[in-house]
Amino acid sequence: MADSNRRLLTAAHTAAGIRQRFVDYFVARGHTHVPSSSLVPQDDPTLLFVNAGMNQFKDVFTGREQRPYSRAVTVQRCVRAGGKHNDLDNVGFTPRHQTLFEMLGNFSFGDYFKREAIEWAWKFLTEDLGLPSERLVVTIYDGQGEDAPPDEEAAELWAAYVPRGRIYRCSAKDNFWQMGDTGPCGPCSEIHIYKGDVAPATAAEPGTGPAYADSDFVELWNLVFMQYEKPGDGTMRPLPKPSIDTGSGLERVAAAVLGAGSNYETDLLSPMVEEAKRLAGDSVPSGVGEAPFRVIADHARATAFLVADGVFPDKGGRNYVLRRIMRRAIRHGADVGLAEPFMHEVCRKVIEVFGDVYPELHERAAVIEEVVRGEEESFRRTLDRGLRRLRKSIDKHESGRPSFDPAVAADLYNTYGFPIDLTAVILREHGLSLDEKAAEAELKAQQGEGGGRGSDLGAGEAVADVYFEVHGEVGDTEFLGYASEEARGVVTAIVVDGASVERAEAGQAVELVLDRTPFYAESGGQVGDTGLAFHTEPSAKGGATVKVEIEDTLKPRAGMHVHRGRVLHGEVRVGTTLTLQVDRARRQAIRRNHSATHLLHHALRAELGEHVVQKGSLVSPERLRFDFSHNRAITVEQRRALEQRVNAMVLSNTASVTKELSMLEAKAEGAIGLFGEKYGERVRVVRLADDSVELCGGTHVERAGDIGLFSIVGESSIAQGVRRIEAVTGEGALAYVQSLAEVTAEASAQLHAGSPQELPERIGRLQAELKQRDREIATLKQKLATGGGTATDEVTEVEGIKLLTRRLSGTDVKTLRSAADALRDRLGSGVVVLAAETDGKATLLVAITKDLQARVHAGKLVGELARHVDGRGGGRPDLAQAGGPKLTGLDEALGAAEPALRALLGAA
Ligand code: ALA
Repeated sequence: MADSNRRLLTAAHTAAGIRQRFVDYFVARGHTHVPSSSLVPQDDPTLLFVNAGMNQFKDVFTGREQRPYSRAVTVQRCVRAGGKHNDLDNVGFTPRHQTLFEMLGNFSFGDYFKREAIEWAWKFLTEDLGLPSERLVVTIYDGQGEDAPPDEEAAELWAAYVPRGRIYRCSAKDNFWQMGDTGPCGPCSEIHIYKGDVAPATAAEPGTGPAYADSDFVELWNLVFMQYEKPGDGTMRPLPKPSIDTGSGLERVAAAVLGAGSNYETDLLSPMVEEAKRLAGDSVPSGVGEAPFRVIADHARATAFLVADGVFPDKGGRNYVLRRIMRRAIRHGADVGLAEPFMHEVCRKVIEVFGDVYPELHERAAVIEEVVRGEEESFRRTLDRGLRRLRKSIDKHESGRPSFDPAVAADLYNTYGFPIDLTAVILREHGLSLDEKAAEAELKAQQGEGGGRGSDLGAGEAVADVYFEVHGEVGDTEFLGYASEEARGVVTAIVVDGASVERAEAGQAVELVLDRTPFYAESGGQVGDTGLAFHTEPSAKGGATVKVEIEDTLKPRAGMHVHRGRVLHGEVRVGTTLTLQVDRARRQAIRRNHSATHLLHHALRAELGEHVVQKGSLVSPERLRFDFSHNRAITVEQRRALEQRVNAMVLSNTASVTKELSMLEAKAEGAIGLFGEKYGERVRVVRLADDSVELCGGTHVERAGDIGLFSIVGESSIAQGVRRIEAVTGEGALAYVQSLAEVTAEASAQLHAGSPQELPERIGRLQAELKQRDREIATLKQKLATGGGTATDEVTEVEGIKLLTRRLSGTDVKTLRSAADALRDRLGSGVVVLAAETDGKATLLVAITKDLQARVHAGKLVGELARHVDGRGGGRPDLAQAGGPKLTGLDEALGAAEPALRALLGAA
């Protein structure tokens, strides 16, 4: 390495330094530094997690969105966990796989193109970071696999820096990048570093080089030249304004610059590896390598970042991916001797290392701690038992059969919460394989079908397609419902049975789209509005010529309101002007509940702590439901305090204030609910009762006092670490309070309590009385069963041992047992044999006093007698029981007791 390179390196001798240099380098070249977006993608249901720097600029590349800059630089947090991008099993076991990574990227939106992108990437690596240029090779698109010519332009530009022999040509599979089936796309060039012992050959040979997964090459940077667009008709046409999208993994670049053998040895991961080792201390079993600690380090990093972005370990979708990641780490922790919850401690280290660059980590530190600890405590409750069960099944597994029973894997998930892929990993360590698909299928069968995710609009994908088309044709609906509950709009589309039509007539179920509407469409937990839509001809006397009852309003696509209902009379056509009238009373009830939800959220954070984060909500006219992160049940005192706090805010009767702000302004106002908003977007901020400030698109009360009364009606747990509160307001609260009063009045009357306040004491007294009576009844039953007085009449002697036999009339087994105990005590020393009919079955019971247990075994004796009732039995040496169907054999069995006892004693 040249001396000048070495000198430069000292300024960037940490990964953190490299990150900063990258940003500075591109800011100095006219780029705007844009913060990383959330890991949860916006408006993109096809994407589980943000996986590239360009995700947040998707609409800018297509021209749908404008930004005040044409050059941007980002350090984007990304997660690739499973799927084709990143096999989870590799993480921690190879030097360069992680679930979470930081992507350095520079972007041009119709500004500079290949020349600058290539020059800057090359110079940043070789001059600024001082990587040895003789070890760098590049790739270009060779014209194979897409309808685009070989990228000779790039090859020429690279030739200014790289000997031609180190410019490799690769097909579309590796060197043509596209966002999806449609949209902007183009050839790309990658820069790889050669890590082998000798410098790469100066002449590129077909079949060798970076495209062939040679582990001596590590990809450092991908430069995408967005120069075409696929409109979706199978063609490809040049983009009027070619753009640049690049992505470079910080961890890999850091490992290359710092000369680290693995990404895990850089300061981006090593502090977490060290922390895990420190926590494990002396308890690490011998022979454990680096891998488990690397898995923990990576997974803790992904966990902390994901929780900070509002993902919680749970069932389904991205939540389940997080749960899988966490449980893998916890299991590796258990393997290296970490007997107590440790993940939250490693996550603390993550916050310490990354909090300054990603402030959300500091802001969410309390949530991360609570959620991570809760998940680990819960999984640890079943981890040991699950591992034992799995080990047993592995031991029992027939050798020679490499594949493991998928039903056991499904059961491990159901009973012990072992994700299927975790079971598969453990099995692989034992040389066994698992058909994961079969295990998933088994799981579905065990859990029963259901929970299928249909489209909101009822008829599945076909309907969603209709709205995709309709939206494309008619555009957004203007929403007027914040200010008014009645307005006129023109019908722009009618959908009947999933097809777009021109007209619909009386009796038909329809979905109407209008150019503007006061109807709120279901979103953010608030249900859709209902009401009427009608048209009155100026000439028509006596009412509307067209009338549609609106039963629900939905938003199948952002910006589009769909009114679902039924035509009551007349004919509605595309182009008809309708008066839209929201059901006001219902809307008012919804406003009260929605505003109360915000006040409750605020009160929860004040009473329970900052770790409380909204996990879901439902706002309907009847009630509200609020789900939030918290690990313990709400106490009676907390519930009371919450109600008092919310009602105090209601009584303040402060006016509500709604503003449209930029994200930065909203943050400055202290608004909560900031997850995953798009940079640059205006957001709606709702301030209620002065203290509660939230981002929200819902409808709210004008003054806090409109809520009336707030009353909690239920509190429960809905998942690990998630609680649910249900509450009512306004008339709903009045009805609730009245129904409580009626129930207590009725109960007081029945219990002859002077006032409802006496009820608890009355009920307590009644319960004590009942208990006393139960005890008396049991004593009486037993007296009846044992015949009350002495029992000498049925006692005989066999070889000096007293034998008491008795037939009891119909009774239950419990009484029979206590009768046997009592009679045995009364004998002092001897054998008791009882026979009775219990629940239509013949039951025999043998009880033997302790002193005789060495001579006679109750189980054996009852076993002998059971034959007479066609039954079987057994038990302890001092007490045994038998049952059989043959009631007529009971007396015979009693008669057989003496000879049987004699025989047993003789045999002894
Ligand atoms: N979007 C490109 C990638 O992810 C840079 O590789």
